[in-house]
Amino acid sequence: MFKRSLLVVAFAFSMVSVVSAADVSVSEQTFGCVLDWPQVRNTRINHADPQQLAEAMRIFKDSVPNTDYPVGTILQLVPFEAMVKHPREKFPKTNGWEFFALDISAAGTKIRDRGDSVVNLAQGKTCLSCHQPAATFDFVCEKGHGCAPIPFNDQAIKALQQADARCAKK
Ligand code: HEC
Repeated sequence: MFKRSLLVVAFAFSMVSVVSAADVSVSEQTFGCVLDWPQVRNTRINHADPQQLAEAMRIFKDSVPNTDYPVGTILQLVPFEAMVKHPREKFPKTNGWEFFALDISAAGTKIRDRGDSVVNLAQGKTCLSCHQPAATFDFVCEKGHGCAPIPFNDQAIKALQQADARCAKK
């Protein structure tokens, strides 16, 4: 009886902490033409709040270690993959990052998979398995943060971004 009431209390507390953390909701409308987002080196960075965007860009640009990206930060390297920052309690394994695998077309974005266990189709590995070594840089791989390399060089990444089917033809 005592044990059960403890459990109930623990559960109630866990609910409170989940609800009280300011969270970001992500839908297919969150994503769009990657060319519309500001860029640091290869990576497209977005945040709904301009000040937090500037902060995220600074952390990325200077590879600041042991610093959390602001909740709400979105990162994209290739148009069909994304990382979105939530409060850490939501995805403790990734310090709050949620990985996304996207199907994109001229009609827009479809979320194929999301969470902290998403598998990358080309390599059959979880996103986290590659991004884990960069934990000191809040799981951002960039170059030189210890992640296993992806099969795209800088030119290929640029070409993939420019071929994003969601961008209006100019
Ligand atoms: C084989 C290892 C590997 C896998 C698997 C992988 N990544 Fe990455 N990821 C990298 C590397 C390395 C970079 C940096 C590449 C560069 O900047 O040239 C990167 C960069 C990124 C970036 C840009 C920010 C950063 O960390 O530099 C995002 C966003 C990203 N990956 C998301 C994902 C998602 C989502 C998945 C799963 C669907 C995934 N990645 C799977 C290795 C991987």
